[in-house]
Amino acid sequence: MASITIRNLDDGIKDLLRQLAAENGCSMEEQARVMIRAAVEGRAGQADRIDQIEKTLRALTGPGQPASPASAGSSQRSIRGTLSGKRILLVIAGGIAAYKSLDLIRRLRERGASVRVVMTSAAQEFVTTLSAGALSADHVFTELFDRNDEHDVGHIRLSREADLLVVAPATADLMAKLANGHANDLASTVLLATDKKVLMAPAMNPKMWSHPATRRNRATLQKDGIAFVGPAKGEMAESNEAGEGRMAEPLEIVAAIEAMLDEKPKPLAGRRIIVTSGPTHEPIDPVRYIANRSSGKQGHAIAAALAKLGADVRLVSGPVNIADPAGVKTTHIETAAEMKDAVDSLLPADAAVFVAAVADWRTANAAGEKIKKVAGKGPPALQMIENPDILAGVGHHAHRPGLVVGFAAETQDLLGNAEAKLRKKGADLIVANDVSHGSGVGPSGVMGGDRNKVRIVSRTGVEEWPEMGKDEVATRLAALIAERLKATVV
Ligand code: CTP
Repeated sequence: MASITIRNLDDGIKDLLRQLAAENGCSMEEQARVMIRAAVEGRAGQADRIDQIEKTLRALTGPGQPASPASAGSSQRSIRGTLSGKRILLVIAGGIAAYKSLDLIRRLRERGASVRVVMTSAAQEFVTTLSAGALSADHVFTELFDRNDEHDVGHIRLSREADLLVVAPATADLMAKLANGHANDLASTVLLATDKKVLMAPAMNPKMWSHPATRRNRATLQKDGIAFVGPAKGEMAESNEAGEGRMAEPLEIVAAIEAMLDEKPKPLAGRRIIVTSGPTHEPIDPVRYIANRSSGKQGHAIAAALAKLGADVRLVSGPVNIADPAGVKTTHIETAAEMKDAVDSLLPADAAVFVAAVADWRTANAAGEKIKKVAGKGPPALQMIENPDILAGVGHHAHRPGLVVGFAAETQDLLGNAEAKLRKKGADLIVANDVSHGSGVGPSGVMGGDRNKVRIVSRTGVEEWPEMGKDEVATRLAALIAERLKATVV
């Protein structure tokens, strides 16, 4: 085996090797060999050490050499420098997802960002300052009243010398502190003292995430201008626990950071755009409701794509199982009446895009108590009344936005129905899609699936777009909206 020259390694890697070698009672050279062997055989061990192994491999194989075939591809080259010169202050709070933050540090640094890390005391129960320090190649800040730090980089400077503050994982506790203006440790103090943008990547148990207190705190923080990425749905670290609460993956967090720090001219900067998304739920009684089949994927993707072009996007979302898009202010509603109130309160706006599958009817009187089955009485007769048409209301509103876009989800006579909706609802564009079972779009159809095939219907004609992913439909529609709004004055 070729010899390994430890003194040629980065100082951070040397420190890590020293610590691991001491833990395992072997030499640093032997420790490096063990790690390389483990990486090659795919049994690298604890997730937070995989980064160290990769880094070691990269250093050992020499400058400019890829560490592994996986990192030698074009994606590795294309990510270089996307965050060049950007300074990120990463606040790691205490949660099992903290191990992913170590990977986040690496991902940010390989894109050219410098990363300074603040860790709460709870975070240090999950990952060590040594690991975070080695990966960030900087001192890790933990104490509010650290004489050295106060002399050197106090909390005000820490929070101001960054281009962006990222909290990952953001715990329920840290969100509550910031929502209420508490500043009793270094993490909460830098967050309160900053004049820079803040991005939070929450991670917690699904029950904690859906607790009314956490929902209130998130809404307050969003109102205060804090951006969110995730959480996603999935398995929790605790056995038998699943739901919404998993921290977004490091690369998703990186994408949200890149979008927030992107200084390219934004065609929709200064434009306020309202987007509705998801279904509405119309209660029958406290446990039953009438709803539409809608995942919210298309509406949320459109909100995200408009935000990427610089729009101030106000998303009004019905109950969905997907995360709020990053960089978008989201209002959560349940019923069509609530969606209408939310949309009306957001007017005036430059444009409005109505993607939501709004329930057309609601029960005249939702029962206050659960309706019980009574033997021999048969099913209850529900008296239904029509919901307000939110799109039509805005399309004919005194403060009508300059551009009004509706959707038409049809199972028959797609174009005929779309053209009728364009006229009746006062829209400028209707995005028409065939949601019938036989549409042949994607493996699972349009409703709930990831693909869509739309036609853009306007007064001047019909443009047919090929089948594509919902994200791509969103990107193209956002570009079309930017083009249409170009002619109008901000
Ligand atoms: N829409 C709305 N408010 C409603 C119903 C629909 O804002 N109460 C909007 C939808 O968001 C979409 C467009 O109107 O942009 C068309 O929705 P769709 O459900 O296809 O049409 P409906 O008007 O409900 O007509 P129908 O159910 O007869 O097809």
